[in-house]
Amino acid sequence: MNPRTSAAAIYPGTGDRIEIATIAIAPPRRGEVLVRIMASGVCGSDRHVLDNEWGVPSPTVMGHEGSGIVVELGEGVTDLSEGDHVALVWNQACLTCVACQSGKPWACTDLRSNECVMPDGTTRLSLDGTDAYPYLAVGSMSEFAVVPASAAIRMPKELPFDVSALIGCSVHTGLGAVNNNARVAAGESAVVIGCGGVGLSIIMGLRLTGAHPIIAVDRNPEKLEIARAAGATHAILADDDTASRIQEVTGGGADVAFEAIGNRHTIPQLPGHVRPGGRAVLVGMPPEDTLIPFDVLDLCYRGITIIASNYGGGVPARDFPRYADLYLAGRLPLDSLISKRIALSEVNDAFQAMRSGAEARSVVVFDHSND
Ligand code: APR
Ligand code: ZN
Repeated sequence: MNPRTSAAAIYPGTGDRIEIATIAIAPPRRGEVLVRIMASGVCGSDRHVLDNEWGVPSPTVMGHEGSGIVVELGEGVTDLSEGDHVALVWNQACLTCVACQSGKPWACTDLRSNECVMPDGTTRLSLDGTDAYPYLAVGSMSEFAVVPASAAIRMPKELPFDVSALIGCSVHTGLGAVNNNARVAAGESAVVIGCGGVGLSIIMGLRLTGAHPIIAVDRNPEKLEIARAAGATHAILADDDTASRIQEVTGGGADVAFEAIGNRHTIPQLPGHVRPGGRAVLVGMPPEDTLIPFDVLDLCYRGITIIASNYGGGVPARDFPRYADLYLAGRLPLDSLISKRIALSEVNDAFQAMRSGAEARSVVVFDHSND
């Protein structure tokens, strides 16, 4: 088959804006599939790249929170079929190393997703005849994408594509941090700092586990409204008084606190929000080379556990379908994460809104009616 063309959101390597351009996509190789992308969330991890906080090879086809329909199978793919609806995994684990075999694909020692290449180190994408790189090995802000079959998880056909896309990153990250990393028990008190797509997913996970109280903190009052709808029992507008308000509501600190921004000011404050013996969970990812000072004597004295969470510490093939089933059963109101459905051409505005903290999740929805 010849390469296929696809309109895509390209980060050229400089500046803070996306350009929409037409890329060429080579056919899927052995073990890979071509996916017609139906939806792609606008995630904080894409913004890190645009704001020059994380280095990636360029030109980069952005987007890593995607869903779509399998339209072509590479050689040897037997566990997916054309027409399957799938959500995409950005942490493309080998599934054979010791970490993968131990149920920790996020710790895969062969991982190349951060290099924005396929697991074999190559790319199927090109722009004007030169290599282009799929962001986090997905590149879902594009009409089509090629991924390893193991990174395309079959989802129920009744699941909306926009919700399915969010399950591929923010939902898996947020619910996983609660279930796999922090293992929150019913009745434990919890604080969530930052209520974007990731923080709101943490709050929904906390509600499902029966945590109480669930305290949401954000600098944007609109986010706090969404957080309450997602299950927060208390909402605190971030200001100089945040720490003492949390102490007040929890009577001396929460059992568990999550940082879901990746901010170098709010991360060091996290252990201060938990009681002696509590857990501080780092979910938000800061810019590269961020060094954070902690009062180690205080951490030791109070016996605080610091947990660093990567992709929710989860197993996508196990967890994506679970989250889909919870949504379809009405237990996980993931629609409320989506504040706007946009066209690919509007993606710069969505990043601008994200920088100002104005909206929950914008999701790029693709129109394939002219394919
Ligand atoms: N204090 C309180 N809230 C803040 C602050 C602050 N100093 N700075 C930002 N926020 C809030 C914003 O208002 C917003 O609601 O944090 C939220 C961040 O959400 P998004 O920008 O939508 O980011 P999200 O996609 O949720 O990702 C968060 O997790 O996986 C990582 O790389 C990702 O680092 C990113 C983080
Ligand atoms: Zn993401």
